[in-house]
Amino acid sequence: MRNDNISTKYTVIKNGKIALADLNQQFSEDVLRGLSRSAKALPCKYIYDETGSQLFCRIMELPEYYLTRCETELLEMHKDSIGSLIDGERCNLVELGAGDGKKTKILLEQFLEMGIDFQYCPVDISESAVKQLASELNDKFPTLEMNGLVSDYFDGLRLLSSQNHARTVVLFLGSNIGNFSPQEAEAFLIRLRDSLNHGDLVLIGFDLKKADIGLILRAYNDSSGVTEQFNLNILKRINTELGGNFDIGKFRYLSTWDTQSNAVKSFLVSTCDQTVYIEGLDTSFLFRDGEQLHTESSHKFSEHDLSRMAAKIGFDVIRNFHDSKRYFANTLWKVKK
Ligand code: AVI
Repeated sequence: MRNDNISTKYTVIKNGKIALADLNQQFSEDVLRGLSRSAKALPCKYIYDETGSQLFCRIMELPEYYLTRCETELLEMHKDSIGSLIDGERCNLVELGAGDGKKTKILLEQFLEMGIDFQYCPVDISESAVKQLASELNDKFPTLEMNGLVSDYFDGLRLLSSQNHARTVVLFLGSNIGNFSPQEAEAFLIRLRDSLNHGDLVLIGFDLKKADIGLILRAYNDSSGVTEQFNLNILKRINTELGGNFDIGKFRYLSTWDTQSNAVKSFLVSTCDQTVYIEGLDTSFLFRDGEQLHTESSHKFSEHDLSRMAAKIGFDVIRNFHDSKRYFANTLWKVKK
């Protein structure tokens, strides 16, 4: 039952429709730019409409996708220490890329049990994901204060800095940071730091480098083909939202390990010479047989990468938490200004 005192406001930045229109405009521009490049590429954030978010939930359940299991174990193992380290004055607990919030529930339950005074603000680009999460959390934790936001990380950060009154603790879990290029990751962390105050905290998930590259690659090339569907969803979305005529059956999924950047690189490969017309852009794009469209990079990090990044950007490392196999790390950083 809903408690009337609970704030379960569902906020869409810039008053709903306008913000969503902006997102659609941005989608068209990014598709035009990405498909016009000589090395075709699309930002992976566009995989995540309702279907993409559901497919990602299925990925997280896959036996090959170790990342979620490791981070879940880590959070179960260390939730009390994390709680003690974030406890203090009332705070906004902002989660960037909240998704289905499955792992976050471990922390939310712990923080509520410990009596930590906080408001939970999930931010996600998928409207359906935020709505679903808000309704689930309402049922599971009737006393939880919540204020969701549909936006990408940067708009989320912008809003965060404009409302920057309470102490802030940011959650950026699940190796989402690995989907940025190193330059983007650094720029993102600088913006994150700039939108926070001295003493605010961030808890970030990193998938760690491992000698077993096969283990990493299997996580992105599952036997049931869900990851392939997940990547192909970006083409389906272009068809539905921008009037594209991609023949999905004429693309196959490819994931490779790039030693230089320590990343899994994912592509959709054209299986023939073909021309795709996108009505919303009134533009045709030629794909050569074997031509690759880059859809995602998933970077892996060393412990040294983490401390170097924190120091360079202006965070103090409070503590690194690991799962029992040390495949994954969540690192708690404090803003130093
Ligand atoms: C969301 N992100 C951290 C996932 C990853 O591991 O890069 C997305 C994903 N792509 C394929 N499988 C999972």
